[in-house]
Amino acid sequence: MAIGDKYRALHARSLSDPEGFWAEQASAIDWTKRWDKVLDPSNPPFYRWFAGAELNTCYNALDRHVERGRADQTALIYDSPVTGTKKSFTYRELRDHVAKLAGAIAALGVGKGDRVIIYMAMIPEAVMAMLACARLGAVHSVVFGGFAANELATRIDDCTPKLVLTASCGIEPGRIVQYKPLLDQAIELAKHKVPRVLVFQRPQAPATLVAGRDIDWNEAVAAARPHACVPVKATDPLYILYTSGTTGQPKGVVRDNGGHSVALAWSMKNLYGIEPGEVWWCASDVGWVVGHSYIVYGPLIHGATSILYEGKPVGTPDAGAFWRVISEHKAVALFTAPTAFRAIKKEDPDGKLLKQYDLSKFRTLFLAGERGDPPTIQWAQQMLGVPITDHWWQTETGWVICGNFMGLDPMPIKPGSCSVPAPGWNLEVLDDAGHPMKRGEVGALAARPPLPPGTFPTLWNADQRFKEAYFTEYPGYYKTGDAGFIDADGYVSVMTRVDDVINVAGHRLSTGQIEEVLASHNDVAECACVGIADELKGQVPLGFLVLKAGVNRPDDEIVRDVVQMVRDRIGPVAFFKSALVVARLPKTRSGKILRGTMQKIADGQPWKMPATIDDPAVLDEIAGGLKGKLSS
Ligand code: COA
Ligand code: AMP
Repeated sequence: MAIGDKYRALHARSLSDPEGFWAEQASAIDWTKRWDKVLDPSNPPFYRWFAGAELNTCYNALDRHVERGRADQTALIYDSPVTGTKKSFTYRELRDHVAKLAGAIAALGVGKGDRVIIYMAMIPEAVMAMLACARLGAVHSVVFGGFAANELATRIDDCTPKLVLTASCGIEPGRIVQYKPLLDQAIELAKHKVPRVLVFQRPQAPATLVAGRDIDWNEAVAAARPHACVPVKATDPLYILYTSGTTGQPKGVVRDNGGHSVALAWSMKNLYGIEPGEVWWCASDVGWVVGHSYIVYGPLIHGATSILYEGKPVGTPDAGAFWRVISEHKAVALFTAPTAFRAIKKEDPDGKLLKQYDLSKFRTLFLAGERGDPPTIQWAQQMLGVPITDHWWQTETGWVICGNFMGLDPMPIKPGSCSVPAPGWNLEVLDDAGHPMKRGEVGALAARPPLPPGTFPTLWNADQRFKEAYFTEYPGYYKTGDAGFIDADGYVSVMTRVDDVINVAGHRLSTGQIEEVLASHNDVAECACVGIADELKGQVPLGFLVLKAGVNRPDDEIVRDVVQMVRDRIGPVAFFKSALVVARLPKTRSGKILRGTMQKIADGQPWKMPATIDDPAVLDEIAGGLKGKLSS
């Protein structure tokens, strides 16, 4: 068999016989009731995997390993350079903590189907919180710590939680982020009144509890009895994870229990090449989908050891932090975003710090979150001497759309490409009219449904938005929102988003959402926001403001205001640091703002005056303004 034949045969089978293929993979999971149908296609595009089956995801992640010989194996290693703490939990210890926490949560009236928001830092209790919800069949929604109170309030109103689990603070290099005041403000802002809050007090900044509503975590757990796993339907929601849409209203991506467990178990072995018992590190955050799938559920369902890292690639304390963690815990693979490697490369271009560590157990580096740019991939390859593989995914898909299947049939790596489609992904490149394009041509990346298990069955409380946002523009396809091409060997390259989503340091943001904040400033008549290229973060947002007639405050002051407003309303993670005051925005004759052209000008790329432009002088003004701004 030639390289790639095994992968190709498997991929072809996943498309020709999806039910047979996924039924076989489902044997990696313990079910309390077998499915009636592997795939229920009766209501497209709302496909359901393993309809009629029942299971508990927490049982699959913890209890079954305790029962079958892994009780004393380390399940979770917490490594926190920002607090100077290292701690490990065996599968038995983690199961016991989770069972008690589930008991405490159940005692607060939370049961199957109830929603619970988790607003915590990268600490073991955050992992326990997710698993405790899963144990009860409650639906968790983790909110990333870098979001502001307003974003948290929007999520509270959308998923109406019975309970919020929080930590008193998060720790960023050089500052402590007090989460509790942000949460109190969010609860104040939200229409839905959160009845109960469980607060994990961190010694770095304990929080004040609100009498009658807030409960101390340790006290509640100490008083609780361990709770057993509650079987749920395979098609019941495990979690909701909000991601940027095109408006201020984020999309609540729903993940089911059954398909998710099957897909993650398959991927740990076949995509990441990890054996149960091995140490695996995903240096993401539990607030992102990557953290859900590969810090928490994937490695634990597979019986591996997962590292939870509370730190940064640089500055905690230096650019050798990643090498230290890999070597100290004997990690065999790392999954991170290219931006982290760009940060390391910037500080230690010759890899001097790397030479201090023994990385002999390390086999593979996986990159995702943004396109793995060839210079970063080549640098990592030079430094590490192991395969560096880019893989493409989205919050919506829960796991990979394309990747290089290192545990199945590793294929030659083409820098700049995220390799080949995962099982069940039937990808095409489409032109504007929705017609398939030829190999090598760049167009919209779309997939023929059904999407494989583990992908989102719908959006929370928004079936219609699910249809409209993903299945309407190209009838018969799932619209990924990304553009790229497929080459003659079937390798896929993802080049850019086709909508107003931008990618800042591996974090997904909507420029439309930033524009809503800019437009709400009293002095701003009109605005636009585009993502401009940044050497470290990939992209950063840049605002353009047209002021109302008669405003005579200095531009700098207004820019300072809007920078603060974005920080306050969306959060520091938006990394909105600058804006340009302009006389007018360039528009087409029909009034559409020419954001794409503005972005090209800002990036110093070649650009053409669009034929549809209303007034060509406006673009010249913008180009002049940007020249001054970007050179200053
Ligand atoms: N809680 C509160 N604030 C947070 C936060 C959190 N959990 N995470 C980030 N922030 C804040 C930061 O403090 C920073 O604030 P500042 O503007 O006051 O400095 C801002 O949000 C931006 O943070 P970040 O994106 O982390 O930028 P950085 O300059 O501190 O670090 C990198 C740059 C490249 C090191 C960092 O972005 C990184 O590690 N990215 C990888 C992302 C990733 O793994 N994504 C997952 C996809 S696979
Ligand atoms: P998120 O939902 O936050 O995971 O962001 C998903 C988006 O990030 C995708 O739609 C892409 O635009 C981008 N992305 C993620 N991984 C890759 C990759 N390997 N190559 C190119 N873009 C990627």
